[in-house]
Amino acid sequence: MDIAKEIKKLITNLTLGSKPIVGLDIGLSSVKMALVEKKGNEYSLVKYASAILPEGAIIEDEVQKPDEIVEAIRQVAEELGISPLVATLGVSGPNTLARKLQLAGGTDEEIEDQVLWEAEQYLPFDIEDSKVDFHLIGENEGGGVDVIVAAAKNDTILNFKELVEQADGIVKIVDLGILAVTNVFELVMGDEIEEPDQSYLILDMGAQTTYFIIYKAGVIMFSKEINVGGVIITEEIQRQMGVNYFEAEDLKTHGDENGNLPEEILEIIDDVVETFFSEIKKAIDFYVSSTSDESLVGCAVTGGSALIPGVLEGLEALLGVDVRVLNPFDAVSYKSGDFSEEEINQIAYRGVQVLGLAMRRL
Ligand SMILES: Nc1ncnc2c1ncn2[C@@H]1O[C@H](COP(=O)(O)OP(=O)(O)OP(=O)(O)O)[C@@H](O)[C@H]1O
Ligand SMILES: [Mg+2]
Repeated sequence: MDIAKEIKKLITNLTLGSKPIVGLDIGLSSVKMALVEKKGNEYSLVKYASAILPEGAIIEDEVQKPDEIVEAIRQVAEELGISPLVATLGVSGPNTLARKLQLAGGTDEEIEDQVLWEAEQYLPFDIEDSKVDFHLIGENEGGGVDVIVAAAKNDTILNFKELVEQADGIVKIVDLGILAVTNVFELVMGDEIEEPDQSYLILDMGAQTTYFIIYKAGVIMFSKEINVGGVIITEEIQRQMGVNYFEAEDLKTHGDENGNLPEEILEIIDDVVETFFSEIKKAIDFYVSSTSDESLVGCAVTGGSALIPGVLEGLEALLGVDVRVLNPFDAVSYKSGDFSEEEINQIAYRGVQVLGLAMRRL
C-alpha cells in the first residue's frame, strides 16, 4: 500500500465538501470530462475536455489498454485544472442493468426485499457480486409500487474505478450511463414528455454501443445496450481502404481534402447503417411485443454516430415518428467566450452522457 497516496485520499475525502465533482465518461473513442454548475434552476457548463483513445482501448467493459486510458484521464483532468480529481463516473456494458419493475409494495424493508428478489430474475450476473440501487417512482394502477432498479457487477465498477484511481483521482459517485443520458433528456424536453400515454425512444449512438431507452411519463420503461456503433464503419474503412484507425476516423468524420466523403465510404456507411436500423427495429419489436405498448410519439438521438449522414432520416422512416437531435444546450448554458463553436458542436453530440454525469450531484 502506498501510504502517501492513502493519506492524500483520506485528506481529500475529508475536505470534499468544497471540491467540485466532475463528470467522467470513458467511452470507446474518447475520455470526456465536464464540470457543470447549478445556480437556482439553471445549469451551466463551466469546463469540458476530451482525449481521444487509441483503437480498442476498452471492449464492452473489458479494459484492454489501461495505461492509455489512465493517461487520457490525467490529460483531461489537467486540462480542466481539476486537482484533486473527484468524479462521478459513468459505467455501462453487459454487466449493468437499468429497469423499471412493478412490485407489490409495503414498508421500505419489504420493498427492498422485493427489489432484490425481482432484480435477481433479471440480472445477467450474480446478485451477490453486484451493487443494486433503486428509486421509488410511486404507486401504480395495480395498487403496488413502481421502482427503477439500477445494478452493476462489482468487478465492473472496480475496474472502471481503478482507472480513475491510477490517475490519482477519486470516484465519489458511480452512475449508469443510461441514467445520465436519460436525465439530460428529461431536462431538455421539460413538460413535453409528461403525457401519460406517450412514449419516447432515446438513442445514444456511440462508437461501440447504442443505448436504447424507452421513456414514458417520467419512467424508463425499458433499456438495452445494443452492440452497434460507429466503429464498425471505421473498421470497414480501415479494411477496405488500407488505412489505420486514426486515418479511417479522420476520413469518416472530415472526408477527403475537400471535405467530401469518398464514394467508397458512402457505400460502407449505407451498408453499416442498415445493420444499425435492423438492430434498432429488433429492439423496438421486442419491446412492443412484450409490453403491447404502441404509444411511441418521438425519438431523440445523441452520440457521435448521430452525425453519420442519413441516420436521422433513416430513423424517421424506420420509426414513423418525429426524430430530433437531443441538444443538451437547450437546457444547459455556457459562456460563449469559453468555448469555440466547434467545441460546442462536439459536446452537443458526444457530451450528453458526461453532462448528465456532471449534473448528478447537483
Ligand atoms: N461527423 C461525424 N460523422 C460520422 N461519425 C462521427 C462523426 N463524428 C463522430 N463520429 C463517430 O462517433 C463515434 C464517437 O461518438 P461518441 O463520442 O458518442 O462515442 P463513445 O462515447 O466514445 O463510444 P461508446 O459510447 O460506444 O463507448 C465514433 O465512432 C466517431 O467516428
Ligand atoms: Mg458514449
